[in-house]
Amino acid sequence: MSTEPRGWQAEADRLANASVGRGDPTGWFEELYAAGESGEVTMAWDHDDPQPLLADWTHEGDVTGAGLRALVVGCGLGAEAEHLAALGFATTAFDLSPTAIRTARSRHPGSSVDYQVADLLDPPREWHRAFDLVVEIYTVQAVPRDLRDRMISAVSDLVASGGTLLAIQAVLDPADDGSGPPWPLTREEIESFVRHGLTKVAVEELHLADTSPRWRAEFVR
Ligand SMILES: C[S@@+](CC[C@H](N)C(=O)[O-])C[C@H]1O[C@@H](n2cnc3c(N)ncnc32)[C@H](O)[C@@H]1O
Repeated sequence: MSTEPRGWQAEADRLANASVGRGDPTGWFEELYAAGESGEVTMAWDHDDPQPLLADWTHEGDVTGAGLRALVVGCGLGAEAEHLAALGFATTAFDLSPTAIRTARSRHPGSSVDYQVADLLDPPREWHRAFDLVVEIYTVQAVPRDLRDRMISAVSDLVASGGTLLAIQAVLDPADDGSGPPWPLTREEIESFVRHGLTKVAVEELHLADTSPRWRAEFVR
């Protein structure tokens, strides 16, 4: 009998549907990472290189972080946080899932990133408008749409005065049946960060060769 782990996507659908169904829209993340850690399924959202749209943005903008604080929301296994730390940012990265954070720490021994378990919907008070750069990739779209406005408001609240938010999300396909996960964003939703004190710099709808369209959105406070 094969002992190969099953692919994580089908498990994500199963766990998310059960979790949302019992009124716990975020409980499935820890269950999914724990199943990955045990070897039952492959590890979810597992990548060593930073998200390409983030890497391009930092490269094209010649972004450097000396003397600046960055925060990665829903950081998963840490590739994006490590990228920002390598650019010189004093980087904090958090995730709801203790298993994700434990895995991120063990994969990056000696890292300067401050990895923390925290809930975007109830963040530490000292993070209020504290970060020069906030990076949010696929976290808003990973929770059901009835929490969308709270998630977007909470992300916005982390950006310091003069700071920047970079958000990367999937674009909602008109044929999407809404069953999720994920629950991609409309243009109105990605632009709604401006309703929480931020100013739009650019909202790009990017059509890439190997994946469905993505929003890459930059805002400042
Ligand atoms: C789709 S995954 C993306 C992970 C990572 N950003 C990436 O692109 O590889 C969404 C992540 O958000 C985390 N997450 C979901 N809700 C959260 C919340 N309320 N607070 C903190 N993290 C959350 C999940 O545990 C998961 O790691």
